[in-house]
Amino acid sequence: MLDFAQRVDTMKDSAKVMYDLFHAVTDPRTINFASGSPANETLPVDEVREIAMEVLQKDGRGFEALQYNNPTGILDLRKIVAEYLLPRRGIEGASPDEVLISTGGLEPLYYACQLFINPGDTLLVESPTFMHAVEMFKMFEANCVEVECDDEGMIIEDLKAKQEKYNARMVYIIPTFQNPTGKTMSLERRKAVAELANEKNFIILEDDPYVELRYSGEDLPAIKTFDTTDNVVYANSFSKIFSPGNRLGYIYAAKPIVDKAFDIKTATNSHTAVLPQILCAEYFMRGYYPDHIADARAFYLDKRDHALEYVKKYMPEGTKVNTPDGGLFMWLQIPSDKIDTRELLEAAKEKLVAFVAGPGFYIDEGKGLNELRMSYGHLSYEQLEKGISTLAELIKERI
Ligand SMILES: Cc1ncc(COP(=O)(O)O)c(C=O)c1O
Repeated sequence: MLDFAQRVDTMKDSAKVMYDLFHAVTDPRTINFASGSPANETLPVDEVREIAMEVLQKDGRGFEALQYNNPTGILDLRKIVAEYLLPRRGIEGASPDEVLISTGGLEPLYYACQLFINPGDTLLVESPTFMHAVEMFKMFEANCVEVECDDEGMIIEDLKAKQEKYNARMVYIIPTFQNPTGKTMSLERRKAVAELANEKNFIILEDDPYVELRYSGEDLPAIKTFDTTDNVVYANSFSKIFSPGNRLGYIYAAKPIVDKAFDIKTATNSHTAVLPQILCAEYFMRGYYPDHIADARAFYLDKRDHALEYVKKYMPEGTKVNTPDGGLFMWLQIPSDKIDTRELLEAAKEKLVAFVAGPGFYIDEGKGLNELRMSYGHLSYEQLEKGISTLAELIKERI
């Protein structure tokens, strides 16, 4: 009989949620509100082709692209993070030496766990939260505990109480256009969580992959900007602003943390693939990004407005939906205790519509039964209307 390591057991529930999510859509005709992918229309195919043709020459960056490189990532890309992307988050004066390029946006969460989580440690998460991260945390045998949230993010009193009760080592926060709710943590709460981490000496893992996709409202400074004791590890991804297939992300943290992450990275996979790093760095250095991100924002804004219009038109009265200021997700709450969105999903799939059912985003059993996450950015207007009206019919039948 196979005798797996303990972590295979501790992660099994969240792993099942992720497995089901990835296998939710088997029929290609399905209108897929479940996917968190950026829209194909926002992927810079032509620019990347042009860059790749030039890079992959012997007298271009061809040898560099195909050789081993530095575990921290190529300097060009670390400079773009430190000198261009982080200042847009209010983080000034970062050094490229405090940045480590990762393989996608999940790997920074992996470094954080490798560095700070021992089996049995408590890790606090938002309620609801991104289940892929929970799967990772459980793989490290962490005890994941939910902190209550409202429209401004984590409720500080609950955070304080749970941090004290469990002596939590780390708090995982997606402050901007959160996954799954699309909500954004307020400025006051950002300050308050950073102050608490500084005072009580726990780590905040700030995960910010949607922040550049703001299409309404004002930018807010990162939690990291309020960190005076190096307790915040800032994680981000290039997946939603460049390309998910290139698997690029990064952490920005104090040098001693990055130095230790260097060791983890070396031991894990030596370094992130060089060719995607060069393609991405050149993409920014050639000045393509500002127009590209402006187009993507306008594109998603229009999709959001259409999705909201159809929700208001078709969904039963009393359905709660937020108006996300950015990102890819909206969160629906159906005004009925008769509904279980997991059962609704099975019925919806028969009608070629998929979404993610609410319970999958909670750790505690019994939560989220009347809730669901809808990803709207990558669908056509026709798909948005057909998908939302079909779902609304199924919901009305059930309530
Ligand atoms: C909150 C959050 N963090 C991290 C990631 C991982 O990003 P990547 O696809 O770059 O690994 C995602 C992707 O959906 C996400 O929603």
